[in-house]
Amino acid sequence: MWLVSYIKHFLIAKLKNASTWSALLAGLMVLLPLMIVMLFPFSSSLDQQYRLAGERLASNGSRDTLACITCHGRQGEGDFVMGIPRLAGLHPDYIKKQLEDYARAPLRTRVVLDPIARDYIKTPRTYGDLTVFTPGTRHNDEMNVVAKTLSPEDRHNLALYYSALPFVATPKAYDFETLERGEDLALRGKPEYGLPACVSCHGPNGQGFGAVFPPLVGQPMVYMIDQINKWQTGRRDNDHLSLMKNIANQLTDGDKINVAAYYSNQSYSVNVE
Ligand code: HEC
Ligand code: HEC
Repeated sequence: MWLVSYIKHFLIAKLKNASTWSALLAGLMVLLPLMIVMLFPFSSSLDQQYRLAGERLASNGSRDTLACITCHGRQGEGDFVMGIPRLAGLHPDYIKKQLEDYARAPLRTRVVLDPIARDYIKTPRTYGDLTVFTPGTRHNDEMNVVAKTLSPEDRHNLALYYSALPFVATPKAYDFETLERGEDLALRGKPEYGLPACVSCHGPNGQGFGAVFPPLVGQPMVYMIDQINKWQTGRRDNDHLSLMKNIANQLTDGDKINVAAYYSNQSYSVNVE
């Protein structure tokens, strides 16, 4: 005890002295950049190792896990015709979250359960730092099976691997009228019905914004329409604060085609020098 109080008194006495303060500050200013420079190569080589582990799992699979490339393509480019989403260049935290949401969804069984309130597991939880997290589920027979085999480390490695892959979208041609209607919805929304524009969340060119708002450009048209349908029927119920569910519920079948065609028509590239 005496040692603690001795140090406390010593510090208070010393820190009252302005020159000790400036000496401490100067010391910190020299030390901090040094620590950052020393830690940087260490952390980036660690990331490199995680990425390599992710690549191995994605390409070869494991005893339990089907290789991701069988469906998502060699470079995570997805499949436009089959409507399989691209993974290349997506935000790592978005990928991780989706894999968790797929893993959380119960597998389809023949047993018919009583319907439960849709938002039962989605009660918002507010943490100390005021982030609101709404855990949810995403149903897809293939991905539910795959995601349940992954460990938290696997999800981390796969997310790092796919987010660093390059991707170049091939713009798809559509008739002028469809594109024009799609553009109107994407850039303007329907203010007369209170529907915000897609760009207000998905970024000015639909290239996504941070970990929460995924890109729409470069995703297959069929996939986008299918996801909006899934929000409408509740098979995808994993968006923060139901942001996307409220949008999806206001879209007509025509809207879905127009806006998906518009985004498939855009050029875009990521992680390409
Ligand atoms: C059997 C085919 C198949 C395999 C294997 C597969 N996926 Fe998928 N994946 C799909 C399909 C189909 C979808 C779209 C499902 C839906 O409608 O939600 C999808 C969706 C995803 C998504 C969501 C993308 C988005 O934009 O929201 C992620 C992330 C993903 N897969 C990661 C992986 C990873 C990582 C692996 C390997 C461990 C993998 N997948 C293996 C078929 C597959
Ligand atoms: C208020 C914000 C907001 C607006 C406006 C919005 N979205 Fe979204 N959207 C989201 C969020 C959040 C997600 C991701 C949910 C999650 O975490 O899985 C999403 C996801 C999507 C996805 C799935 C992408 C993928 O990779 O799986 C599609 C498709 C989509 N939105 C289409 C649209 C379209 C079309 C519009 C305009 C009509 C639109 N969104 C407007 C918030 C928004």
